[in-house]
This record gives sequence, structure tokens and C-alpha cells, in this order.
Amino acid sequence: MIHVAGVDVGSTQTKAVIIDEEGAILGRSLIDTGADVVKAAENSFALALGDAGLAPDDVSYVIGTGYGRYKVTFGDDQVTEISCHGRGAVHMFPGTRTVIDMGGQDTKAIAVSETGEIVDFCMNDKCAAGTGRFLGAASAALDIPLDDLGPTALRATKPVRISTTCTVFAETEILSWLGKGKKIEDILMGVHQSISSRSIGLLRRVGIDEEVSFTGGVARNLGMVHVLNENLELEMNVSEESHFMGALGAALYAMDRARSAQEAMA
Ligand SMILES: Nc1ncnc2c1ncn2[C@@H]1O[C@H](COP(=O)(O)OP(=O)(O)OP(=O)(O)O)[C@@H](O)[C@H]1O
Ligand SMILES: [Mg+2]
Repeated sequence: MIHVAGVDVGSTQTKAVIIDEEGAILGRSLIDTGADVVKAAENSFALALGDAGLAPDDVSYVIGTGYGRYKVTFGDDQVTEISCHGRGAVHMFPGTRTVIDMGGQDTKAIAVSETGEIVDFCMNDKCAAGTGRFLGAASAALDIPLDDLGPTALRATKPVRISTTCTVFAETEILSWLGKGKKIEDILMGVHQSISSRSIGLLRRVGIDEEVSFTGGVARNLGMVHVLNENLELEMNVSEESHFMGALGAALYAMDRARSAQEAMA
């Protein structure tokens, strides 16, 4: 039985998964990337191994992805996160033709073929306004944990229109709306709407072909899922594994390599 791993070292969080030959996830881990990126990669791999009940030697190939993919020093190779999110999403939801990956720093819109190859992609340049960082700024300004942002926003009755497109000014604008007596849920819904409209702009640039799969950590945010579905007028594919889609894609590429190596030896 071949076991392989994918380690997705994101700017904010590091994800690792271990899969078997069927592509089933045997173990996983999720930790904050923090300042020591090499350590984050090592720790997440060790935790995923523990979760799977395997030793490092049981894993025949490791692929690193994400912004810190070259810090996966124990890995065998690296693949870009665009390719990995595309591959992971098509594996999990075979009908996927468009992927929206919302992470801590970047949002990426990806068009994929039936086999999971990248047809086109587009990402937010230098600006975090359409990303998880904008949500992080809102979470800090309103003192609400990340997990509660979406559910709180969904209680909105009169959403505020957030005019700031810059994360740096988001906190100031949020505080000024609070000062004007606006409800927290209405401000938060405004934040979600603002991120949604920027993300849909990115998606339009690659073309919105159904099915659309939502990947990255922000896919855990139920408010974001709801607002995007409503504005796109469709139902995106979202699963428990959405946050791990890049790591899963990396592991699937690792399985290809491990199989070819085995065939070459046979
Ligand atoms: N439980 C949760 N509820 C809501 N949002 C969450 C949750 N966990 C993570 N997030 C969001 O997901 C983000 C991290 O996502 P992810 O791990 O995909 O980012 P990353 O890969 O590190 O970043 P990037 O791809 O931009 O380099 C966090 O910044 C946060 O906004
Ligand atoms: Mg990422």
C-alpha cells in the first residue's frame, strides 16, 4: 500500500494530509504558519502522520505547496497552489470547472478542465481587500472570533455598505460605523458583501463555469458561503475538506509520482 503526503504551507495556516492509493484522507493537520515556516511544515507533517498512525518512512513521496512550499525541506518536490487547489477540487467534486480559493492573504479564481488541469487563473494583486485578511481585520476591530464572523453576519437586517477597499482602513471604517450606532451584524454583513463582490470580479475574469467549488480557510465561514451563493445565484461545492483542498491536491500529485516510481522499478 502506497501512502503519500501533501503539505500546504499557506501565508496564514499550514495544512498537511496523508492519503492512500484511492485518494482517501488517512490523516490531516491544521496549524498556524507563524514566523518559523520550516518548523510549521515539519510540525504539520508530524501531526498528520500521528493522525494517520503512520511513521515518516511509511510515506513514500511528499509534495509541498503554498507560498512556503520551498520551506518543506523534507519534501520531494513542490507544485504551485493554483495547480493543487484545482486538482484537489476536481478530485473531491468531479464536476468542478471553476474554483475560488480564499485564504488568509490571497483570493484566487481558477478555471479547470475535467481532468483538473488549469485552464486559466486570476488573483488579487498586492491587495488583501477580497480575502481572509479583511475578515481578520474585522474580527480584530469588533473583537469577534473568526468562527463567529459568518454566523453573526447572517443575523443582519440592514447591511452597511463598506466603502473602504483597503484592509488597512477597514478597521477605521468599521469603528466609525460602530460609533454611528450601527449594529455589529449589519457592519459584518457589509464586510462579507464587499469581499464577495471583489471575489466575483476575479471569478468573472476567468469565467464562471459550473460547478463552482469553494476552497481555502474562508470556505469555513458560513456567512461567506451564503453571500457568495446568493450573489452568484448558484450553489457552490463546499465540504469539510475545503480548507485542505490544496494539501489534498499536492498529495494527489505525490501519488502520481510514487506510482510512476514504482512502475519504473517493476
Ligand atoms: N474556523 C474558521 N471560521 C472562519 N474562517 C476561518 C476559520 N478558519 C480559518 N478561517 C479563515 O481562513 C483563513 C486561512 O485560510 P487558508 O489556510 O486557506 O489560508 P492560507 O493558505 O494560509 O493563505 P494564502 O493561501 O492566502 O497564502 C484565515 O485567515 C481565516 O480568515
Ligand atoms: Mg492557501
